[in-house]
Amino acid sequence: MRKPFVMGNWKLNGSIEMAKNLIDELREKLSTDFDCNIAVAPPTVYLDFAKHRLGGSNILLGAQDVDTHLSGAYTGDTSAAMLKDIGVTHVIIGHSERRTYHKESDELIAQKFAVLKETGLIPVLCIGESEAENEAGQTEAVCARQIDAVINALGVEAFNDAVIAYEPIWAIGTGKSATPAQAQAVHKFIRDHIAKQSSDVAKQVIIQYGGSVNDKNAAELFAQPDIDGALVGGASLKADSFAAIVKAAEQAKK
Ligand code: PGA
Repeated sequence: MRKPFVMGNWKLNGSIEMAKNLIDELREKLSTDFDCNIAVAPPTVYLDFAKHRLGGSNILLGAQDVDTHLSGAYTGDTSAAMLKDIGVTHVIIGHSERRTYHKESDELIAQKFAVLKETGLIPVLCIGESEAENEAGQTEAVCARQIDAVINALGVEAFNDAVIAYEPIWAIGTGKSATPAQAQAVHKFIRDHIAKQSSDVAKQVIIQYGGSVNDKNAAELFAQPDIDGALVGGASLKADSFAAIVKAAEQAKK
């Protein structure tokens, strides 16, 4: 049985005040033991603050990116070793915003995946097609290519204890989520694709859906057999909606 996993991606939002209030509210709303892994990923500069504020709670700490190097002359970057040092457990890599704005390639993202595995951190690998690719019927080919970049570099076993977030780019921040049936079809494709190399890895890998998940559509999405949770952007900035999504995940997977 896969334990559901809901992660909040705060992106470039927040302040100390906001982090304090949001974390305190989440701790209150999610204080009971949930049969769901929960994480928040604040901006890098607030990670250490967030770690202390989360102290002793069941909410894990995620980062939004990592450099491929562990140390050295790489001005402005943050290493996996540093993230681990301050208590991060999960790291988002390959988000479409980084693929687009920072021109990150599949190969670079596979290197980030590798350094996270070496360091003992859990990669949350974002994959997903653009609107044009979707309309051209290339969704499966794009997802397969993005997963194969990691499998070719590291082998399918690298997906043991890793997370995949399927995020169709046209659904991110648009309010236009994929329908549960659309998302389920792609999630099943992803799991079957991994199963071609290892059915054991495919059975246990967590596949989150991301793209305009909110407290209204979460339950229907989580009711799908291959949707194991969500990577939540906008709705993770409000304690009420994020807590409701966590509860929907737990409820759906009972
Ligand atoms: P959204 O973002 O929930 O605001 O659509 C999701 C994401 O980009 O991770």
